[in-house]
Amino acid sequence: MRIDVLTLFPEMFESPLDCSILKRAQDKGIVEIALTNIRDFATDNYRKVDDKPYGGGPGMVMMPGPVFDCFEYVRKLAPQKGPVILLTPQGQKFDQEKALRLSAEKRLILISGRYEGFDERIRIGLDADQISIGDYVISGGELAAMVIIDAVVRLLAGALGDEDSPKDDSFSAGLLEYPQYTRPEVFRGMKVPDILLSGDHAKIAQWRRRQALQRTEQLRPDLLGESKDKEKK
Ligand code: ADE
Repeated sequence: MRIDVLTLFPEMFESPLDCSILKRAQDKGIVEIALTNIRDFATDNYRKVDDKPYGGGPGMVMMPGPVFDCFEYVRKLAPQKGPVILLTPQGQKFDQEKALRLSAEKRLILISGRYEGFDERIRIGLDADQISIGDYVISGGELAAMVIIDAVVRLLAGALGDEDSPKDDSFSAGLLEYPQYTRPEVFRGMKVPDILLSGDHAKIAQWRRRQALQRTEQLRPDLLGESKDKEKK
């Protein structure tokens, strides 16, 4: 997969992309991630990329010119096609299902905005999807793009050490994950449940499933309404 990010702050991505799973996935050639600075496509001497909103109001709006020029440059960097995604609190809410869908694409082009938002002609002209990472406002789309990159890349084949781990993640079966334990067997008086020490894999699987259901019921009952496993409850 190739992921292009159009941003005014490419330096914000450096450390997250240079650690752990994202670094390893790039080193192994599973994903190629390219950052392009929208400001490099400003046309005036001040490298201006935003302006006051028509009709008045607070804040500044990202101008269409630099974003379009940057996009047209980036698109030609590679032959693969894929969705163009604007990060904005007005977008559809990101979740594990969307991450899975995006992980099947050959390419993603993510556009991170700053200021009060994008000139509407950016969304229309680039035929872009809009994604939000949640019902709150952060200072720009960069952190949102990083969340999406991380959630998508860890689903790509070979990105995680243990091939089985993503399917057990919270949400992947529409449920939260079951409780996990590691050594020591007793920690500050709290003991690992006997069943996990029994070696009986069928019983363990059954226990984990029950725990996942119980936990979801307790902490996120809204998920059970959506769970594909609901009827098996
Ligand atoms: N930019 C600002 N807030 C955002 C959010 N919640 N999701 C995506 N992009 C954003």
